[in-house]
Amino acid sequence: MSLKEKIEINRLPKHVAIIMDGNGRWAKAQGKDRSFGHQEGVVSVRKVVEAATSLGLEYLTLYTFSTENWRRPESEIQALMGLLVKAIYQETPDLMKNNVRLMAIGDLSRLPEDAYTSLMDCIAQTSVNTGTTVVLALSYSSRWEITDAVRTIAKRVMDDDLKISEITEGVVSEYLTTKGIPDPDLLIRTGGEQRISNFLLWQLSYAELYFTDKYWPEFREEELYSAILDYQMRERRFGKTSEQL
Ligand code: IPE
Ligand code: IPE
Ligand code: MG
Repeated sequence: MSLKEKIEINRLPKHVAIIMDGNGRWAKAQGKDRSFGHQEGVVSVRKVVEAATSLGLEYLTLYTFSTENWRRPESEIQALMGLLVKAIYQETPDLMKNNVRLMAIGDLSRLPEDAYTSLMDCIAQTSVNTGTTVVLALSYSSRWEITDAVRTIAKRVMDDDLKISEITEGVVSEYLTTKGIPDPDLLIRTGGEQRISNFLLWQLSYAELYFTDKYWPEFREEELYSAILDYQMRERRFGKTSEQL
């Protein structure tokens, strides 16, 4: 029985989020430039998106570039943005064919113009699709997002548009960039580090965490299936006792 066949399709996580880490170390380990790791990382993105659609996952969020990643050397940022534009142009036909809807979260105003334009074109074109939703987190950080939400909520209170007593968890969620997207059930981080790196801090409250030493360029279909099988062995109690479930 293959790994894929072992997955219980009626108990899939609705939303899988991935911190795609380890491109640079993977390349360096074989004496190559970090950008080679990013190129191979794009191949992993394609394979994992295909695996997600073949399983019928509803949401897949990929941490592609963090707010903190703007601190990297200019040449690496340019290489990453170039790859993003190229990948979007290359992959859009397959996204259409596979009924994938693309979305993006993050401070997109900071993206270079060509990256922003190609991203928006792909989002518009795929918006009619009804299969898996792939969310790219780009120039994203959770603290940026929460700070922005607090500002907007405070403004509405000052404008007498919202009462303090009306600010519920649901209202806070509505002001995050992930509005309308269910919280991730499973968070995967590749590359061996066990940290969250400013990713979806609010939304991950009850996610199951899965860490693997595999570098992102090595993470392909089978690794996604393994992570989902691991998830399916866990008991999610949400504060209750086992007996209550
Ligand atoms: C992840 O790989 C890709 C991005 C953060 C853009 P890294 O570039 O962080 O690779 P390592 O962690 O240095 O190996
Ligand atoms: C996290 O990876 C961000 C992305 C995968 C886009 P980093 O490589 O930037 O994380 P840290 O800084 O090592 O925690
Ligand atoms: Mg890294």
